[in-house]
Amino acid sequence: MFDVELPIIQAPMAGGPDTAALAAAVTNAGGMGSLGCAYLAPEQIEAAAAAVRAHTQGPFALNLFVRADAPDDPVAEARVASVLARFRGELGLAAPGPSTSTPRFEEQLEAVLRCAPRVFSFTFGVPAPEQIAAVRAHGIAIVGTATTVEEARALADAGVDAICAQGAEAGGHRGTFLGAFEDGLVGTIALVPQIVRATRLPVIAAGGIMTGQGIRAALSLGATAVQLGTAFLCCPEAGTSAPHRGALATATATTITRAFSGRPARGIRNRMTDAFAATEPAPFPQQQRLTAELRREATRQGRTDLMQLWAGQGAPHVRTLPASELVAVLAREAGLRA
Ligand SMILES: Cc1cc2nc3c(=O)[nH]c(=O)nc-3n(C[C@H](O)[C@H](O)[C@H](O)COP(=O)(O)O)c2cc1C
Repeated sequence: MFDVELPIIQAPMAGGPDTAALAAAVTNAGGMGSLGCAYLAPEQIEAAAAAVRAHTQGPFALNLFVRADAPDDPVAEARVASVLARFRGELGLAAPGPSTSTPRFEEQLEAVLRCAPRVFSFTFGVPAPEQIAAVRAHGIAIVGTATTVEEARALADAGVDAICAQGAEAGGHRGTFLGAFEDGLVGTIALVPQIVRATRLPVIAAGGIMTGQGIRAALSLGATAVQLGTAFLCCPEAGTSAPHRGALATATATTITRAFSGRPARGIRNRMTDAFAATEPAPFPQQQRLTAELRREATRQGRTDLMQLWAGQGAPHVRTLPASELVAVLAREAGLRA
């Protein structure tokens, strides 16, 4: 469907871990790379797509968060301020300056249309009918993310070409957009065949897949392809920071936390996730902005107790291999290549 040899997609990983080099390497190895553009301004999206094209002529996906942001909540800001001030103090950060704004979804989508990637994938919701129509009119394939059968049906009704079924094991943000996020914590093995049966659309299985054996399992459940995020985090081409790589190697417990962005996401449990289990975070993307400087500085200082350490439940299986080798190993293990 996407003109790729292998049914292996490198997940979009916005905020640093994915890079144009990683996406191009996966595409050149016979899979398909993705770039998470959720935090990029329109001109940055165009530059990122051009950077991928500088290294490959093959297909790739651009990915966005479908958002209609609520206005900032001053009560929430006051609530989280004391927790953040304590951690900022530990890192030697002065009082926060004025926060920046997050680029608007509509403008980001316009940039994606100008880039015309092979695939537009999205999470957190369903674009408006006219937005879906515009993507289709540009000849771009459309992949929406579902964490429940109900969400998959909503995406099918909206006219997507394929559904990424995100199981509870997945690293990073939960895509859940209907109901409470707890309702969307369905394991990949349970979720994939239900969405295959309910929609009859091609299903891309995501969540906890780290090996060729996992790929085989997903394909035998009816998935058409797989999407792996955590498995690619330790590739040299990834933008994953050194302390994040180190934490993945020894990861034992992951948790779902709203500490870093305000939306539920799976990452390695630490003091920051514990603190915001006790204090209600601000909504997304306000919490994302309020924690931005703290997250950056914690990463610079290698303070894994305060860093955002996205990881799926399969993290202990992560392999440190160049992306092309990882794709080749996965294909061999899955029996997709001799
Ligand atoms: C570091 C990281 C960042 C992610 N960012 C995005 C993103 O920007 N957009 C998106 O649709 N999914 C994102 N995801 C979720 C992936 O698309 C996918 O569901 C997940 O990686 C699959 O589970 P796995 O990590 O166990 O392979 C991210 C995942 C990780 C690990």
